[in-house]
Amino acid sequence: MTTSAFLHPFSKPAKAAEDFITLVRGEGSTLWDRDGNAYLDGLASLWYCNAGHGNRHIIDAIKHQLDSLATYNTFDPWTNEAADTLATRIAERAPMADSRVFFTCSGSEAVDTALKLARLTQRLRGDEQRHLLVSRTSGYHGTAYGGTSVQGIAANKEGWGELVPGVLNVAQNDIEGAARLFAEHGNEIAAVIAEPVQGAGGVHPPAPGYLEGLRRLCDQHGALLIFDEVICGWGRLGQWFGAQHYGVTPDLITFAKGVTSGYAPLGGVIVSRPVCDALESNPDFLLRHGYTYSGHPTSCAAGVATLEVYEQDGLFERANVIGGLLGDGLRALVSDGILAGVRGDGAIWAAELFPDRDPYMVRDALLAQGVIARPLVSAIAFCPPLVMTDDEVGRLVDGLATALR
Ligand SMILES: Cc1ncc(COP(=O)(O)O)c(C=O)c1O
Repeated sequence: MTTSAFLHPFSKPAKAAEDFITLVRGEGSTLWDRDGNAYLDGLASLWYCNAGHGNRHIIDAIKHQLDSLATYNTFDPWTNEAADTLATRIAERAPMADSRVFFTCSGSEAVDTALKLARLTQRLRGDEQRHLLVSRTSGYHGTAYGGTSVQGIAANKEGWGELVPGVLNVAQNDIEGAARLFAEHGNEIAAVIAEPVQGAGGVHPPAPGYLEGLRRLCDQHGALLIFDEVICGWGRLGQWFGAQHYGVTPDLITFAKGVTSGYAPLGGVIVSRPVCDALESNPDFLLRHGYTYSGHPTSCAAGVATLEVYEQDGLFERANVIGGLLGDGLRALVSDGILAGVRGDGAIWAAELFPDRDPYMVRDALLAQGVIARPLVSAIAFCPPLVMTDDEVGRLVDGLATALR
């Protein structure tokens, strides 16, 4: 057994090189490995390939950008047309009026940026004592130190030494618990961070009224509300953002993944007007935050093209159709007595297994049938590309039924 030079993310470092599957091609919702085996992608890679694989419009846009300006930084005084265009298009589609967009390269960087901007905004408003960050159990916010610190998945926080101080955790959908926290620490809380639908923590939609309750508490106490929409954005819930789907408007939105469908790395933060006002209030204030690849022209060109695909191909309407079929199919397996439960919204769903089932074994049994899904806690998650056909959705459900039987 030998390991490869590539140390894989979220993998066992001792895993043998030959046990990884080498993918060579993707088209629509299907991938092929180097031995010619086909896989139906029930997870849109890792919750991100909403436009599906092999989309010519996005690929051509990337090639076109590479042919003109492949790369240049956007620190003062530089900018590029792709970044400016993408920021404008995102701001036009955001739920917050007159917002601006800060670009990062990943969701983890987007989360760090949002947490830093939240504390900075409070400071610029003269509220230095507001430094606490509130997060939820089962929340996943990436793996940088900021996102690791506000994680609600305990195992992901272990082994990294001292994390960012000033983080308080509340139970997932417990608005009374959040209210108690605000009653005790209200004037010290800078921000609350929440995924509209929790993804990696097990696919947990918000309880009715929960997000509205968070919004109310933040307003009453002067805290900022951050929606981490790294998974929920870009049509996953049938609209541009989960904020619009649930009718709750945050102060900051983190995004990544679906903004380019993963064709090039890109993330960012949508910054609402009141937060921008604080940042812009002193003309001499310098924002000492940013990444070498913030506003990378090739990634941003991929983003512009991806947004065009979503609109031109009507993919957000497909989210509801795909989600409806998937939800119905999984509920039928609950009726058949082979699944313990099902939960989800839009086109993101989890099949809850009975306690005697090992989710990793179910994942492997699905893979043996050429179906990709993700084992999560005690469930199997599905998050298909929004180009998936009705028949292919049926194959996801049939595959799970066979795997369980
Ligand atoms: C809600 C959420 N936030 C942040 C991240 C981190 O994004 P990235 O892996 O691009 O750093 C993820 C990744 O899955 C996520 O689901």
